[in-house]
Amino acid sequence: MTHYAMPDRKSWEKEWKEVSGHALVAVNSATSLDGLETLRLEYLGRKGRLTSLLKDLKDFDLGDRRELGGPSNAFKEELSAAIDAKKAELEGAAQDAAIAGTKLDLTLPGLAPAEGRLHPLTLVMREMTGILSRMGFSWAEGPHVETDHYNFESLNFPPNHPARDMQDTFYVDAGSGVPGSILLRPQTSPVQIRRMEAQRPPLRIMAPGRVFRHEAVDASHGAVFHQIEGLYVDKGVTMADLKGTLLVFIQSLFGPKAQMRFRPSFFPFTEPSAEVDMQCILCEGSGCPACKRTGWMEVLGAGMVHPNVFKGVDYDPEVWSGFAFGMGVERIAMLKLGITDLRLFYQNDLRFLEQFK
Ligand code: PHE
Repeated sequence: MTHYAMPDRKSWEKEWKEVSGHALVAVNSATSLDGLETLRLEYLGRKGRLTSLLKDLKDFDLGDRRELGGPSNAFKEELSAAIDAKKAELEGAAQDAAIAGTKLDLTLPGLAPAEGRLHPLTLVMREMTGILSRMGFSWAEGPHVETDHYNFESLNFPPNHPARDMQDTFYVDAGSGVPGSILLRPQTSPVQIRRMEAQRPPLRIMAPGRVFRHEAVDASHGAVFHQIEGLYVDKGVTMADLKGTLLVFIQSLFGPKAQMRFRPSFFPFTEPSAEVDMQCILCEGSGCPACKRTGWMEVLGAGMVHPNVFKGVDYDPEVWSGFAFGMGVERIAMLKLGITDLRLFYQNDLRFLEQFK
């Protein structure tokens, strides 16, 4: 809306004096975005006071237009720039106020993304299979659900052997230990038979995997645990090869001071058989709760492959000989990591698991 009636020079100059004298001061002292917008409309809107002044210049003669047009156009630029600057200032202040209102502490460190890692048993198993693989043992696997045939019969277990009892073995079917029944394998030894059936000698395999036993769970026994089976068949393999292989293995895993001892034992599929103990590394042999104060811990069973086992897979026992061993991964991992209760491996407590890398 125009504030002066006629576009004559006198009233134009009166209005111009007012506008140029007040507009900038008003803009610079605006305290809100709304107030600023009102001022913008008042001076620079389509019918604003400065807009009207500039528009009315067209009715003046050329001399007046030149004289008045320069300063009034320059003032329009100046006023627009002042409005933009004030707008930016007020918007910044509004943002600061909003941030202060939410109490954000921008100096706090960000959240570190959770880092995944391997289970301690996996780490130890990888180390064990790594050593064996560098000694020439190649990877072999067999099913968790096995038949009586592979788990017992072909391993020379007599029909009435106590290990076939339901007390020790989980049966999947109703039969318990009768030929043809199906079970959760209580040892990795059936993989020996499966590999020998599939491959002519010589042969050198390791078979890592899960095994299952009908067992009361305590600090050193689990119903589910892991074994690594080893089998080496060639001409002229002796018990000395077995001892040498196991000593190199144990010292690679635990260092050159690690000690082991063989105790005579019995397994149907090896003859002679031995149980192998490792000197307790927690107490270095002096006796502690972990080794039941004996200074030694049983870590594996081993022996020379029984001729009946060879005969069953059509290997000639007069030509070929071999050794086999089966070690408990949890037992070895406990020694390696200094853990006295095997159940910790299965409780998935992050405070425990996060200690191992
Ligand atoms: N399978 C036996 C066990 O679970 C260990 C073993 C493996 C013994 C190979 C001798 C040879 O106790």
